[in-house]
Amino acid sequence: MSYGPLLFLGILFTLASSWVGLVLIPQRQLGALEQFTDTNTAAIYPQARAGQAQQGAEQYRALGCVYCHTQQIRPEGYGADITRGWGRRRTVSRDYIHDKTVMLGTMRTGPDLTNIGERQSDSSWHFKHLYNPQITSAGSVMPSYPFLFETRPIGPFGSSTNALALQGVFAPPVGFEVGPTLRAKQLVEYLRSLKSSGDLPEAPVKKEEPK
Ligand code: HEC
Repeated sequence: MSYGPLLFLGILFTLASSWVGLVLIPQRQLGALEQFTDTNTAAIYPQARAGQAQQGAEQYRALGCVYCHTQQIRPEGYGADITRGWGRRRTVSRDYIHDKTVMLGTMRTGPDLTNIGERQSDSSWHFKHLYNPQITSAGSVMPSYPFLFETRPIGPFGSSTNALALQGVFAPPVGFEVGPTLRAKQLVEYLRSLKSSGDLPEAPVKKEEPK
C-alpha cells in the first residue's frame, strides 16, 4: 500500500493548521483595529504621526535606539512600569496601528520611551542629551550622537535660535556654535510624539483618586 496520499494529507494539515493559528486568527483579532473616537470628548486616538516625526522613527530605527530602549508598558502587577511613571496604563495593539515598524524592544538599559513625549517635551533638552548625555544626565551610559549636530561659525547676526546652549567643557570654540542637523530635528520630533496614554475601552486610563 502506498502511503503517498496519507503523507500528503498529513503535511497539508500541519501547514494549514499553523497558517490558521499564526496568520488567520491573529489577523482576525488585530487586523481590523481602527482609531477610537471617544463619544464623550470627541477625542480620536491614536493619531497618526506628523511628517517629520514619521521620518524621525526611521532615524530611531537606523541609530539602534531600540537596542537599549523599549516602547511597551506592562500591565499593573506584571512589573513596575506604571509605578516608575513610564505610563499611565498598559500598552495595547491599538497603540501601534500607525507604525510601519513597531519598535517594542527587549532591552531596558535605558528607560522605556513609550511616553517620553509627555515626560519630556522640551526639544532643547533632547538636543543636549543626544549631543552628549553627560550634559543633562551625568554618569549616563548612553552613547553620544555628535554626528547628528554640526559645529558652524556664528554668523554676523549672532547665534541662531536653534543653537545648543552649551557650557564649560561641552562649549564649542569661541566664534562657533553647535546646531542640530535635519536628522536630529526629525529624531527629536519623533521622541516628542511618543505619547501612548489615550483612553481606550480595552485599556482605560486609571483616573486619579480624589484626595
Ligand atoms: C547603550 C544603550 C543606549 C542606547 C543605544 C541609547 N540609549 Fe537612550 N538612554 C540610555 C540610558 C542608560 C539612559 C538613562 C540615562 C540618561 O538619561 O542618559 C537613557 C536615556 C534616554 C532618554 C531619557 C529618558 C528619560 O526617561 O528621561 C531618551 C529620550 C533617550 N535615552 C533616547 C535615546 C535615543 C533617541 C537613542 C538612539 C539615538 C538612544 N537613547 C540610544 C541608554 C541608551
